Amino acid sequence: MSESAQAHRKDEHLSLGVNLWRQQQNIQVGATFDDIRWLPETFPEMAVADVNTQVTLFGHNFDWPFYIEAMTGGSTLTGRVNGQLAAVAQQTGLAMAVGSQSIALKEPDAAKTFQIARQNHPDGFLIANLGADHPIENVRQAIDMIDANAIELHVNVAQELVMSEGDRAFYWLDNLATVIAKSPVPVIIKEVGFGMSQSAFKTIQALAPAAINVGGANGTNFAMIERRRNRPAETFNLDNYGLSTVESLLAAQSADNNLPLIATGGIASANDVVTSLMLGATLTSSAGYLLKTLMRDGEAGLITEIQSWQRDLPRLMTLLGAKKTAELSAKPRLYSPMLHNFIQQTKKATR
Ligand SMILES: Cc1cc2nc3c(=O)[nH]c(=O)nc-3n(C[C@H](O)[C@H](O)[C@H](O)COP(=O)(O)O)c2cc1C
Repeated sequence: MSESAQAHRKDEHLSLGVNLWRQQQNIQVGATFDDIRWLPETFPEMAVADVNTQVTLFGHNFDWPFYIEAMTGGSTLTGRVNGQLAAVAQQTGLAMAVGSQSIALKEPDAAKTFQIARQNHPDGFLIANLGADHPIENVRQAIDMIDANAIELHVNVAQELVMSEGDRAFYWLDNLATVIAKSPVPVIIKEVGFGMSQSAFKTIQALAPAAINVGGANGTNFAMIERRRNRPAETFNLDNYGLSTVESLLAAQSADNNLPLIATGGIASANDVVTSLMLGATLTSSAGYLLKTLMRDGEAGLITEIQSWQRDLPRLMTLLGAKKTAELSAKPRLYSPMLHNFIQQTKKATR
């Protein structure tokens, strides 16, 4: 396959994204998962075997409250990675999202780098992915391409603005309303790692998609990735911008959001999954950390890692006395002064 500039960008995202995780260069933006402490449940009165980790969303039963989030596809290398991620998802019973399929709408040859996910995970819950500016015709094509069960439309103003070749105009709301009304599968509105504040949740509430992926900071940092890609280098810098995943989840609460939430951004353990569910997420997903594990340890290593999350999760839920994931949101917790301060300040916000 001849590789276009857009395909090259996919390879750069992959290598720069993996490097950030490998070298632990991601900058801390706002409160982290460690800013929430779980209060001990001394008498859980249950057994690990009582735990049910299933989650029902989009009319589907997910066996696990976490999945492999959107990353790749579009080039030979990233097509291979999509195939590996899908094989791992299949073997571990996880759902999976593919990376943005916009390249395959322009370069039909690239479709196979996404279709490999459906081939390797024939019965899996697969999520298509496009930017929020794509019209319903493209959305239908992306869904059909992988026989998707849902589609994510990513919103990524900060990422585009850091990219030298990125978009500079962002009129998305009318299009999103049309796509949500006409999409044949559930639509998820998804940030890519800069998080969402109360005003965003209120705006999205009116659009009524099937779910919101808060896509918070403190994991893969696309401001850093795009800045490192820029040639020539630019001074424009948003490395510290955004709300973290835990802050975004709390912002959803104070915005009285009642749409299902998916937490992504910095999730790197079953503990992070539990904390996200405590803060109101229905599902969670992880991208960069799982990708780093795949690139370092191969498919077998990633399977081992995911299986350890699957082993840890029922234990952690027992620790907290929760038989079902939905019970976690009522469990008592302590917020660090930094997070407490965030809650106080955003309570006052009137927007
Ligand atoms: C290499 C790479 C490529 C990505 N490409 C996409 C993409 O095409 N579409 C999208 O919505 N998000 C994309 N993301 C963002 C992730 O889906 C996720 O929202 C973000 O990385 C935060 O999660 P993390 O901290 O677990 O990585 C990408 C992430 C990585 C690491």
